[in-house]
Parts: sequence; structure tokens; C-alpha cells
Amino acid sequence: MDWSGKTILITGASDGIGRDLVEQFDLLGVRKLILIGRNPTRLDQVASRCQSETRVEQVDLADSHQLTDLIERLATEEIDVLVNNAGVGLAGAFASHEDDDRLVSMIRLNCEAVILLTRAILPGMLERRRGSLLFVGSLAGWAGGPGLCAYSATKGFIHRFAEGLRWELHGSGVAVSLLAPGATRTSFFPSAGIDAMDIRTGSMSSKEVARQALKGLARGRAIIVPGIGNRMLLMLQGLVPRAFVGWTARRIFASILKPSRPEAQ
Ligand SMILES: NC(=O)c1ccc[n+]([C@@H]2O[C@H](COP(=O)([O-])OP(=O)(O)OC[C@H]3O[C@@H](n4cnc5c(N)ncnc54)[C@H](OP(=O)(O)O)[C@@H]3O)[C@@H](O)[C@H]2O)c1
Repeated sequence: MDWSGKTILITGASDGIGRDLVEQFDLLGVRKLILIGRNPTRLDQVASRCQSETRVEQVDLADSHQLTDLIERLATEEIDVLVNNAGVGLAGAFASHEDDDRLVSMIRLNCEAVILLTRAILPGMLERRRGSLLFVGSLAGWAGGPGLCAYSATKGFIHRFAEGLRWELHGSGVAVSLLAPGATRTSFFPSAGIDAMDIRTGSMSSKEVARQALKGLARGRAIIVPGIGNRMLLMLQGLVPRAFVGWTARRIFASILKPSRPEAQ
């Protein structure tokens, strides 16, 4: 794929997987990178390391007014690749969540912002008969996550949305890919309320996830699962009875559940 001349918009560009995606796109020599996130200092730091032209937009995507204003400001941009990456998690036994605002904000960011941003940018791609949409789901989007129920549901939502769009846009010139990482070493876990110590074996670096994402995107892959261990886990999930997936998930996520479990009587 010839990346020169391409304009790429990345949400959640200030940290983690998004920041490393920016770096990877920059190395490919794209024309322009539009970086979206809330933290202006971190966004500026990421932008200052880029060779490509950058545009920084400080936006809270979970705030519908800020999202609407952003969409208006983007009207003049010809975006070739939209990377819907920004996302947060929320850990703990579901009944123990006391802050409804946090739950709603996660759903707005992980689902609503993705739908509305895609809705705004896709018509231009269809008119030009070219473009790529990259959605960041999760391995957790394929199975209910005990201790991460609402989060894994938002990712399942993204998986279905990306799949439907891919089939709907067949032959339109617009490609749709889903990136579904497994555990990746970023700020995601501490901000979701998960102790990094609880993420045991097999986590990947965000750099490697971003590298594999771009390789898959360039090849037009429908689903990109970085890491052989994660791909094997996904394959096994489809082969064993669902109850066994649940049994395993309970063990994997047991440490996440522990802090919020009511004391045994
Ligand atoms: N880490 C993992 O193990 C893992 C596994 C599977 C899937 N994922 C998915 O990968 C994506 C990236 O996560 P990550 O691991 O890179 O996490 P991260 O390091 O915490 O980065 C999250 C990014 O999203 C931005 N963001 C958060 N809330 C936002 C808001 N309300 N409005 C705008 N931007 C917001 C953050 O920037 P600001 O703070 O500047 O807003 C940051 O740039 C997420 O969709 C996550 O669900 C992660």
C-alpha cells in the first residue's frame, strides 16, 4: 500500500496502542496525522515526534457536545484511514459498581463515539471510493469477561458493528478491519482499576500490537489478532463447549473480581 498522501485520524492517540499506531503510521511516511485525546501535553509530545504533518484535537469523546463540535471541525478533512482506538475499561464485580456516570461514560466512549465518528467520516470515503476503517475491539469482545462484563459487552458491540459494516461496504472501495488485542502493557489496566500484577502471563507491548495492526491493515485483513498465543486462545474458544470457556474465563479473571467481591459469610 502507498501511504504517502494519506490522512489518518487516530482516536486515543496520546498513549498506549494509539500512540504507537501514530508512530508506526509516521514511519510509513503518511501525509497527515490527526491526533485525538484529552491530555494536551501528551498529545503535543506525540505530535512533536512525528515527521508527518499533524493536527491535534483535544476532545473528550465521551462528551456528546465535544464530539459534535469535533465532527463539525473535521468536515473539511479528507480522511483516508479512521482508527477508532480510544477506549477505557471498568473492572470489578458488576453489582459492586456504584458510579453509574463512569459506566455510562465508558459506553459513550467505547460505543457511541465510534458509531458517530464513523457515521460522519464514512460518506466522504464512499464518495472518493477509497478508505479504511480500523476498529479496536478486544479478545474480551468474544467472551463475557467476569469482572469486566460491561467492558467486554462494549467490545462485543464493536465486533458486530465492524463485521456488519465490512459486509455492507463490500465492493465500495472502503475496507473494514477489526484489531482485537489481548492483554497489552499500557495504562489501560490501572485506569480500569486492575492491578498490573494481576495481568499475569502473555501480555504484549503496545509497540508490537501497533506493528502487527498496520501489517494486517495493509493486507486488508478483516480480523487482526496480534500474538500467536492470543490467536490460539481465540481458536480454542471456538472448539470447546461454551461452559468450558466460562470456566476458564472465571479463573483468568478471578484476580480482577477479588477486590470487589463481598466477604464470604
Ligand atoms: N491494553 C490492553 O490490554 C487492551 C486489550 C484489548 C483491547 N484494548 C483496547 O485498546 C484501545 C487502546 O487502549 P490502550 O491499552 O492503549 O489504553 P491506554 O494506554 O489507557 O490509552 C487509551 C487512550 O484513549 C484515550 N482516551 C481515554 N478516554 C478518552 C476520552 N473520553 N476521550 C478521548 N480519548 C480518550 C486516552 O487519552 P487521554 O487520556 O489523553 O484522553 C489514551 O490515548 C482501547 O479501545 C482498549 O479497549 C486494550
